[in-house]
Amino acid sequence: MRVLVIGANGLTGRRTVRLLEEGPHEPVAMIRNPEQSDTFDQMGVATVVADLEEPLDPALDGIDAVIFAAGSGSGTGPDKTLAVDRDGAVRSIAAVEAAGIDRYIMLSAMRADPESEGHPISHYLRAKGIADEHLRRSELAYTIVRPGRLTNDPGTGKVSLAPELKPGGSISREDVAALMVECLDRPATERATFDILEGETPIREALEKVEGDS
Ligand SMILES: NC(=O)c1ccc[n+]([C@@H]2O[C@H](COP(=O)([O-])OP(=O)(O)OC[C@H]3O[C@@H](n4cnc5c(N)ncnc54)[C@H](OP(=O)(O)O)[C@@H]3O)[C@@H](O)[C@H]2O)c1
Repeated sequence: MRVLVIGANGLTGRRTVRLLEEGPHEPVAMIRNPEQSDTFDQMGVATVVADLEEPLDPALDGIDAVIFAAGSGSGTGPDKTLAVDRDGAVRSIAAVEAAGIDRYIMLSAMRADPESEGHPISHYLRAKGIADEHLRRSELAYTIVRPGRLTNDPGTGKVSLAPELKPGGSISREDVAALMVECLDRPATERATFDILEGETPIREALEKVEGDS
C-alpha cells in the first residue's frame, strides 16, 4: 500500500515514515513546507505538500491508506487545537472517504472525549474526541490508537493495550509508530479503538487481542 503519513515531519510522523520505508508498504510524507522535504529526499521517500487547514484532495492521489500523526502541538493556542486537531482531522477523514480510500489510522490520545470537562487540557481532549467520533461514524476501516504521554525514549517493542487503561503513564513515540505500522497488516484492528502505554506485551501479541468497537 502507498501510505500517506499526515504530520510526517513531526516527532512521531518521522519515526512512522522511517519504519514504513523498511517495507512492505511505501510511505508518502505529507509536509506543510517544501523546505521540510530534505530529510525525506535523503531517504528516497516521496513528499506531498499540504495543510490540514486547506483542502487535502491533491495529497490523496494514488494513496491506499492514511496514518494521521499530526497535531497542533503545545506551543500553539486553543484556536489551532480547533483548526488542526479537530477540524483538520475531520477534514482529512471526509477527504479520505471522498477519495475512496478505505484504511485510516488515527493517532489520538488517552482520555480523548468529545465532552471532556475539568481537565487542564479539556479543550484538546474534546478536539481529539470529536475527531475520533467522526471517524467512528464514517464507513472507513479505521483504527484509533490512544497513547498516554509520548516520550522520545528508545522503543522497547512492548506495550500495555486495552480499550481503556488507567490514565497517567507514557509510551515512546517509536513504539507508537511501530504499532501503527503493524496495524496496517492486521484486519482485526479495523474499526477498533484502544489505549496504549509502555508495557510488557510484544506489540504483535498485544494487537492479536484487539476487538472491534461495538
Ligand atoms: N505529546 C504527547 O504527549 C501526546 C500524547 C498523546 C497523543 N498525542 C498526539 O500524537 C500526535 C503526534 O504528536 P507528536 O508530539 O509526535 O507531534 P509533533 O512532533 O508536534 O508533530 C506534529 C506534526 O503535525 C504537523 N502539523 C501541524 N499543523 C498542521 C497542519 N495544519 N497541516 C499539516 N500538518 C500539520 C506539524 O507540522 P510542522 O512540522 O510543519 O510543524 C508536525 O510535523 C498528535 O496528534 C498528538 O495530539 C501526543
